[in-house]
Amino acid sequence: MTKTIFVTRQIPEVGISMLRNKGYVVDVREKSSIPNQKELIKVLKAKPYDAVVTLLTDKVDNQLFDAVPTAKIFANYATGFDNINLEEAKQKGIAITNAPAVSTSEAVAEHTFALMLSLAARIVEADEFVRRGKYIGWDPMNFIGTDILGKTLGLIGAGRIGAQVAHYASGFGLKVIYTDLKRNEQIEKESGAVYYSTPEEILKLADIVSLHVPLMDSTKHLINKERLAMMKKTAFLVNTARGPIIDEVALVEALQNKVIAGAGLDVFEFEPKLSKGLAKLDNVILTPHIASASDTARNEMSTLVAQNIIDFFEGKVPANKVN
Ligand code: GLV
Repeated sequence: MTKTIFVTRQIPEVGISMLRNKGYVVDVREKSSIPNQKELIKVLKAKPYDAVVTLLTDKVDNQLFDAVPTAKIFANYATGFDNINLEEAKQKGIAITNAPAVSTSEAVAEHTFALMLSLAARIVEADEFVRRGKYIGWDPMNFIGTDILGKTLGLIGAGRIGAQVAHYASGFGLKVIYTDLKRNEQIEKESGAVYYSTPEEILKLADIVSLHVPLMDSTKHLINKERLAMMKKTAFLVNTARGPIIDEVALVEALQNKVIAGAGLDVFEFEPKLSKGLAKLDNVILTPHIASASDTARNEMSTLVAQNIIDFFEGKVPANKVN
């Protein structure tokens, strides 16, 4: 029987072609909007798909598994898989894969630096100033920012992405300190990163704090009012991981009251909604969850998703099986 695959939204063509070249039938939902659960259930009930490609905006749980009992693999087009109920998948014997392409850590680490440097050099405020026609001549006091050379970068999470950030940081002359559940000897050797056992130590010591942990019960609101108050008043907070790691209401309050100097956010607690007051702040830079959106990374993710499905159909264990 020809294998059939449903893809919940358009992803780069390269992976779709890999699947079609194998002779599989691939149905890609055409609308670019985020499908709601009701729509997904309806479409999955309509055809006995053998696999489903999901996105981080899809809630993948028993409701979807029950809609398409023929599908024994759900391949997530994302590094993170906090949108998936792994326990329910396990109980039903459904394989879940993610797409942790090497190039995604490079892309996310680059975006982390883009946010850091933009905060330090006040790029967004300055761009707006020029666009509004306010630049009437060079002024030695205009938009004085801060250097990052010699500053301390504190990483909360030192997996693939955190390690890549540490790697770039050594080139920028940043001192790197980090915390994680376990030590990463590679970044200690390669980037001179110094390990601390608690996030509190990082928050107190760092000039820039960057988050690189997955979203789990234990990391939800890891950055809350109390922990924000531990940071230096001059510090920046960067989040390219997952929005709910930060209590966003507490962050808005901290930014309004200058408890910290600024924040660069690619992800939001109630994505795509922003907490009240966030978009009004000058000391925050906001990007729409695009840290991994480099052409290389997105194409590599597409090939990984396809390869995971191909391997599964061919009786091999997919390289990125997470359950
Ligand atoms: C993006 O956030 C991803 O998890 O790939």
